[in-house]
Amino acid sequence: MSHHIVEFRDVHYHYPDGTAALNGLSLRITHGESVGIVGANGSGKSTLLMHTNGYLLPQTGTITVGDFQLDKKTRQEIRKKVGLIFQNPDDQLFMPTVSEDVAFGPLNLGLSVERVNETVQEALETVGCSALRDKPPHHLSGGQMSAVAIASVLAMQPDILVMDEPASHLDPKSRRALINLLKHFHHTKIIASHDLDLIMDVCSRCIIVKEGKVVADGPTEEILSDGQLLEDNNLELPLSLQKRDLPLGGTMNEIGKLHHLLGHWAEHNIEHAKTYEDWSKKADALGKKELAAVLKTIAEETVAMDSRFKEALELCR
Ligand SMILES: Nc1ncnc2c1ncn2[C@@H]1O[C@H](COP(=O)(O)OP(=O)(O)OP(=O)(O)O)[C@@H](O)[C@H]1O
Ligand SMILES: [Mg+2]
Repeated sequence: MSHHIVEFRDVHYHYPDGTAALNGLSLRITHGESVGIVGANGSGKSTLLMHTNGYLLPQTGTITVGDFQLDKKTRQEIRKKVGLIFQNPDDQLFMPTVSEDVAFGPLNLGLSVERVNETVQEALETVGCSALRDKPPHHLSGGQMSAVAIASVLAMQPDILVMDEPASHLDPKSRRALINLLKHFHHTKIIASHDLDLIMDVCSRCIIVKEGKVVADGPTEEILSDGQLLEDNNLELPLSLQKRDLPLGGTMNEIGKLHHLLGHWAEHNIEHAKTYEDWSKKADALGKKELAAVLKTIAEETVAMDSRFKEALELCR
């Protein structure tokens, strides 16, 4: 799979009872993007996500994932690349023990038993659930189930990670750990959530879905700071933006908004610099010395921008 693009073109989907859940939905997500999908209850987010790995198939319109157009024949291939974590972890876990559940996918990929054991161990450690490996999944708490569902998908080493409300059952510490994990997952991420602060933290692009269609698509900071757009879609400003409002008497003034955005940009600036540096090292290892040098300069200049962000933040006060 070359570019791991996910493209929906005019996709319609009706459930068997006649509910029209997707009504001409189109979007295009390219490799490495982190995209938040937000919208009111019933707007079609889960239905959209269940199409990304062929759990549901479009009734009209087309879906392309990497090199394949999704249909009955290609969906097995697509599932190897797209890891989908369902909104309800109960739907995901079905084996007698946690470790068998996490091993299920890698075994189906044909990995050796030794490699599967290592992968299971790593995935459970990543989500802090190694101690649960011998428990039956139906004896786990909601949050533990979510974490194990995440491990079972990570164990497949997907190129595209798709999560439906991944933090809804997690305690604050586990939620923070998940955010860190997601920040370090450098492939494509598509995350549906009502936790708009998580989306702010993890996704650089945000799509609003309403009545089975895309109604807004843009940089997360812009979409999630647009009070009117959010209100029109039964959403509210992320808490981190609301807090900033309080001293200003309940309305978000432009400077308050800019102050928040600058803080957000500054935070991501350092992450971006690290990514450029990592790629500079990789380019160097591949013998692309000139490219490595340019990337290194980009990384250094990005770090240098940090003081500019701080200066701008000061000037916002
Ligand atoms: N199995 C089903 N059978 C019939 N209708 C369904 C089914 N699942 C979902 N729907 C309907 O499809 C529409 C979209 O539902 P979906 O679950 O995709 O929304 P959502 O945006 O994920 O909502 P939420 O924020 O509550 O998770 C809703 O009108 C819902 O009632
Ligand atoms: Mg849903």
